[in-house]
Amino acid sequence: MTTFWSGWVIALIVFNLGLTLFLFLWGPRVDIPTQPDGTTGHVWAHGVLREGLNRLPMWWIVMSAALFVSGFTYLALYPGFGASKGALGWTSAGEHAQDAAANAALEAPVRTRVASTPIETLASDREVVRIGQRMFIDNCASCHGREGHGNPVIGAPDLTDGDWLYGGDGKAILTSIQDGRQGGMPAFASVLPEASITDVVQYVRSLAGKPHDSLRAQVGRTVFKTNCAVCHGADGKGNTAMGAPNLTDTIWLYGGEQADLLRTVRGGRGGVMPAWRGRLSDDDMRMIAAYVYAISHPDAARR
Ligand code: HEC
Ligand code: HEC
Repeated sequence: MTTFWSGWVIALIVFNLGLTLFLFLWGPRVDIPTQPDGTTGHVWAHGVLREGLNRLPMWWIVMSAALFVSGFTYLALYPGFGASKGALGWTSAGEHAQDAAANAALEAPVRTRVASTPIETLASDREVVRIGQRMFIDNCASCHGREGHGNPVIGAPDLTDGDWLYGGDGKAILTSIQDGRQGGMPAFASVLPEASITDVVQYVRSLAGKPHDSLRAQVGRTVFKTNCAVCHGADGKGNTAMGAPNLTDTIWLYGGEQADLLRTVRGGRGGVMPAWRGRLSDDDMRMIAAYVYAISHPDAARR
């Protein structure tokens, strides 16, 4: 703060507090002329309301004096009086640094076991999972939801259902977090005639046990074998090596209604899971992985 602004703030404080103090001392002493009936003679509402003269109650005077004293004490101890740093030398950044150090000290014993313990074991460590949960809410909830149930609009998978694009053991989860993932479902609008797209969608619905046109599904089966089986497998059960989802269950990244499926096959999909290496520390990523493992393996978490 420049000397000018510091002086300006000090002048404002002194003027305002001084004026208030003056009114406070002068008010009770000032001589106000009164009528014989004890009122000031001011009337409103055609004489129905008349202004009396009542002195300030004692409790009010004591309270105000106390507020004055605390105001000055605050300005003496803390920053506020112009550029004055206050007698205590308090800063918000200093307080934050102190809290962060206290928190790091609390976490230190937990962190010592994080690097050397497998994710599957960490998942039953309550303290680790609790810290992991906080970091999940901060970093992952925007896409996967606060409880990890996913978001079909961007194809962020439900992380609690035990169904995995890339695998659900500790290592696969950690790799997803560290390196990120990129789904690559190609667009078929310009590859297949529209009729074949409709046929293959009917076949996908039959795989998932949904109502479908069985004739079209028959034809779609051949389309599937030639165009889709490379990634989704001959049986449609998916392939975790490339993150091709299982199409035979009832779990959908982008929705299993006809319109959703047609959109997926025509336009393709490419869900992006960002990489966290470099943005989060190794320990942080392991603790988040432990939390994800815990919410997707309730039995392991209870051990
Ligand atoms: C920008 C949105 C976004 C954020 C933020 C995000 N994810 Fe993801 N995540 C995705 C998407 C989309 C996918 C699916 C990728 C694909 O389709 O290949 C995914 C996939 C995953 C997978 C793989 C799931 C499987 O079935 O194999 C895991 C595990 C995961 N995310 C965990 C996390 C964690 C933990 C965080 C926080 C550190 C996080 N994600 C943050 C969007 C996000
Ligand atoms: C190159 C490999 C590849 C080929 C070929 C491919 N897919 Fe996919 N498919 C994927 C991947 C990877 C995803 C996941 C996309 C994502 O994570 O965003 C996917 C997603 C899907 C989905 C969305 C599933 C859901 O849960 O919402 C459907 C449906 C689908 N594919 C059907 C097909 C059909 C039908 C064909 C053939 C016409 C086909 N795929 C060909 C790789 C492929």
